[in-house]
Amino acid sequence: MKEALAQADRNQKRLGFVPTMGYLHEGHMSLIQKAKAENDLVVVSVFVNPMQFSPGEDFESYPRDIERDYRLAIAVGADIVFHPDVEEIYLPGASAAVEVTGEMTRKLCGVSRPNHFRGVTTVVSILFHIVRPDKAYFGQKDAQQLIIIKKMVRDLHIPVEVVGCPIVREKDGLARSSRNVYLKPEERKAAVVLNRALGIAEEYLRSGAERNSDVETLKNIIRDEIESEPLAAIDYVELLDGVTLENVSTVLHGKEVLAAVAVRFGTTRLIDNRILSILRK
Ligand code: PAJ
Repeated sequence: MKEALAQADRNQKRLGFVPTMGYLHEGHMSLIQKAKAENDLVVVSVFVNPMQFSPGEDFESYPRDIERDYRLAIAVGADIVFHPDVEEIYLPGASAAVEVTGEMTRKLCGVSRPNHFRGVTTVVSILFHIVRPDKAYFGQKDAQQLIIIKKMVRDLHIPVEVVGCPIVREKDGLARSSRNVYLKPEERKAAVVLNRALGIAEEYLRSGAERNSDVETLKNIIRDEIESEPLAAIDYVELLDGVTLENVSTVLHGKEVLAAVAVRFGTTRLIDNRILSILRK
């Protein structure tokens, strides 16, 4: 990677970076395309990061196809695909870690995946040091991850601009995810309930603005819709401040509220979210 960057003569060039765990889909590709549009050189990393998986999670079975990833990444504008071995990222005896502490990492996915974000911030920080990008691209699909990475970059004065990118969905509304391949056909059909439930809450808020802005009511609307789907088992339904992930009781004018859900279909856990806000009249 270091040689490739030296050869690319990166001085004077703007470098965009898209970290991924591979098995690329349209969501990843939208990030690569945005990076290409805004930079001279684009690096995509493909690394299934063991540190962000808990024991018993899907690290071993996580879908992998580096040949296909390489082709797709290059086709949409990547200049360099970085696919390191675990031992290249975590050197023998390595014991340093990067952690964002506090509420932000304990809520939402932090409840059922307690060390997950420590693994994410550590690997992203290592990758930033190797690639040294000007801009790095992350999807709003993983809203909590995006917020935590922005916090890490701010708190540690890391010289990179973090760019958030919109969620890319299938035609029927299901958010694209490498884990969608785990779904059985009937689970795949049922999984559209995530986006549908978030859409109903958004519509309810829009139809009555202030009058309908109570967070508990909105949570119940989302929960009821998801529970109407027998194959869905809720992990969480939360509405939190869209910047700090602090608790809120109502959706206020001009404030963004993150409606985030995690739901299991059989053994597959899916997440989705929507930013809710009341626009000023
Ligand atoms: P991964 O799940 O492969 O996702 C890589 C990037 O693609 C993340 O920024 C994610 O938010 C984005 N992404 C995934 N699905 C998307 C969709 N449907 N629409 C838009 N963007 C989408 O997230 C990770 O890998 C890892 O935690 C990583 C940051 C690489 C650290 O290991």
